[in-house]
Amino acid sequence: MASVLVLNGPNLGRLGSREPDVYGSQDLGALEALLVADAAAAAASGVPGGEPVGIDLRQTNDEAELISWLYEAVDTRTPVILNPAAFTHYSYALRDAAALVTKAGLPLVEVHISNPHARETFRHTSVISGVASGVIAGFGFGSYRLALRGILDL
Ligand code: DQA
Repeated sequence: MASVLVLNGPNLGRLGSREPDVYGSQDLGALEALLVADAAAAAASGVPGGEPVGIDLRQTNDEAELISWLYEAVDTRTPVILNPAAFTHYSYALRDAAALVTKAGLPLVEVHISNPHARETFRHTSVISGVASGVIAGFGFGSYRLALRGILDL
């Protein structure tokens, strides 16, 4: 595994200023730095000389772009950490693309910063979870860190 794709859906580019009471006050740059440090620490505690896995973190507000990145994951055989944001709750197109990843035998971990089940009713449904390898929600940026840990442990 050379890298992990960390894909973020709509409005997550505004982390830091978007509803800090729900999502915290750190932005995606801070998340990337955390994951890069975790990957380096994991490599240092593993096989001597082992290279840290690369963290390829991206964000888009565009459903089509997110789907094309999932195709890329399949074609390059790259594990995925996916925060589908609001697409979680209604995008069957994104679900079908996520299924391509897991059907190809690659891990795809659905993550959420907040716990959608403790919020508005429309957030209680995820159309993605049924095709994900696993789901982690409610731990802030810790949800991504736990997902990376899980992928590295596979
Ligand atoms: C979110 C939860 C979603 O309901 C919401 O639309 C988001 C972020 C989370 O990370 O907690 O944009 O996926």
